[in-house]
Amino acid sequence: MVLFEGGDIVSALSISSESPFSFLFTSAIILSMIQRLKNKIALITGASRGLGAAVAKRFAQEGAQLILIGRETAALEEVDDVVQQYGPPALLVPFDLSDLLRFNDLAKSLAERFGRLDILVGNAGVLDEATPMTHVTPTAWHKIMTTNLHANWHLLRAMEPLLIEAKAGRLIFVTSDIATTPTAYRGPYAVSKAALEMMVKTYALEVKHRNFRVNLIDPGGLRTNMGAEWMGGEERAAELPLPESVTEAFVRCAEEGCHYHGETLSAQKDKFFRPSAA
Ligand SMILES: NC(=O)c1ccc[n+]([C@@H]2O[C@H](COP(=O)([O-])OP(=O)(O)OC[C@H]3O[C@@H](n4cnc5c(N)ncnc54)[C@H](OP(=O)(O)O)[C@@H]3O)[C@@H](O)[C@H]2O)c1
Repeated sequence: MVLFEGGDIVSALSISSESPFSFLFTSAIILSMIQRLKNKIALITGASRGLGAAVAKRFAQEGAQLILIGRETAALEEVDDVVQQYGPPALLVPFDLSDLLRFNDLAKSLAERFGRLDILVGNAGVLDEATPMTHVTPTAWHKIMTTNLHANWHLLRAMEPLLIEAKAGRLIFVTSDIATTPTAYRGPYAVSKAALEMMVKTYALEVKHRNFRVNLIDPGGLRTNMGAEWMGGEERAAELPLPESVTEAFVRCAEEGCHYHGETLSAQKDKFFRPSAA
């Protein structure tokens, strides 16, 4: 386990590789032969619960070494308990993404530890209660823009040098269909996702000469805290699919063979696509 605290990375990483059971050993070898993200270093924001935690667990199954960001250490550790069933412990980074000045420190620490980043997943997001546009408080407006938009720009900017060091940089940002469907009373969230999409697609055009693949995934409604907020309660959200059901789209966009670029992948519509304006 590694914690990011006060601008320093404190390492306590330990890797357990011994198993007394040979069948487990054999299974591990077979699993490692079919892992689609083997030896890839992947950073996921909002990995402490919901969709980000599901993606983290799936990426671990696929052989990735993980860097997990969320605000709560205990929640990150719970995700890491599962991650460690498949491979090395994740690097846990308790980090409030609204602390925009810390992204460069994080990148510096990752450069020292790993020297590169193969996969970046900008997943963390916040929603606020449904409110008419002019009744939204400045505090709520800034919180949503900061987490859903500004933090992703700072993340992208800070991590680009590490992604350039990778053989095949893969960038995924999480959006919502609300980005292209004006929805009454959900103004700040919709504006933040629309701006995020424009940022990501603009960037995709700028890096098309690199071996990067830069895409957005719209996961659709999910049974998570945010899904419950959207639906107005956990009971209503119980009808929604679990986040584990959409992780295949993330693997597709993260693996070396990914050929999508500058697209919005709709994870629940049999993988394909909200047409790109580009
Ligand atoms: N659920 C849906 O129905 C749905 C539909 C369409 C799109 N999406 C998108 O999918 C993504 C994931 O949503 P979800 O449903 O998994 O939401 P969730 O269950 O509420 O989880 C949100 C994650 O973001 C993290 N986060 C929020 N603010 C943060 C901050 N300031 N600093 C660090 N981490 C922060 C949370 O960590 P903490 O533990 O620190 O709070 C948590 O890990 C979001 O971008 C969302 O917009 C969701």
